[in-house]
Amino acid sequence: MTPLPAKADMSAKEKLEQLKKQRGESMARPAAPQRSYLSPNGPVTPNMTPTVSPMDSIMTANARRKISLKPGHSPLDWETKKKTSNMKGSIDPRDFPLRVTKEELKKHNKEHDFWICLNHKIYNLSPYLDYHPGGVEVLMKCAGKDGTFLFNKYHRWVNYERILDACFVGFLV
Ligand code: HEM
Repeated sequence: MTPLPAKADMSAKEKLEQLKKQRGESMARPAAPQRSYLSPNGPVTPNMTPTVSPMDSIMTANARRKISLKPGHSPLDWETKKKTSNMKGSIDPRDFPLRVTKEELKKHNKEHDFWICLNHKIYNLSPYLDYHPGGVEVLMKCAGKDGTFLFNKYHRWVNYERILDACFVGFLV
């Protein structure tokens, strides 16, 4: 590329401008960087490709499914209900604690008659379904089955033995 000859009467600024023009640059002040703000998914800069936060892959893998509990179904309401209602379903109190076979467990697989096995202990889950912060749908996968694996997959830190103490009906044999 042949540089344009600088005119003798050009000021230093004009010469610089001409030089920059030849190199495809502009003297104009570069646009101020746009301010980023924090969103739940990490920093976002308007009009720019959204930033992918390192947490995104983790969040996608174990995406939290938020469900809203019906009014009057908070964890506190559950504690009150436990003290005031029968939580063991239709079992005969004289048979408590039951010795439950896998075949018997399988029969209790409906919302109104829902048993689950957690670490060899059988719980009547029907009264708890509407109080479960993860929703009913996900629990139905474990109706009449051993839910230990899925329970641990989602929240092994949850103290189910305390939450479901009143729902305990017996042991898997
Ligand atoms: C049977 C006893 C169970 C109890 C007492 C129980 C209790 C809870 C509690 C307290 C939470 C809220 C946890 C939190 O916000 O950190 C929760 C959330 C959840 N539970 Fe359970 N759960 C049980 C079984 C299960 C099972 C068997 C599954 C899967 C099949 C499951 C799936 C979930 C899911 C997907 C959430 C939402 C997690 C989230 O918000 O990130 N739960 N459960």
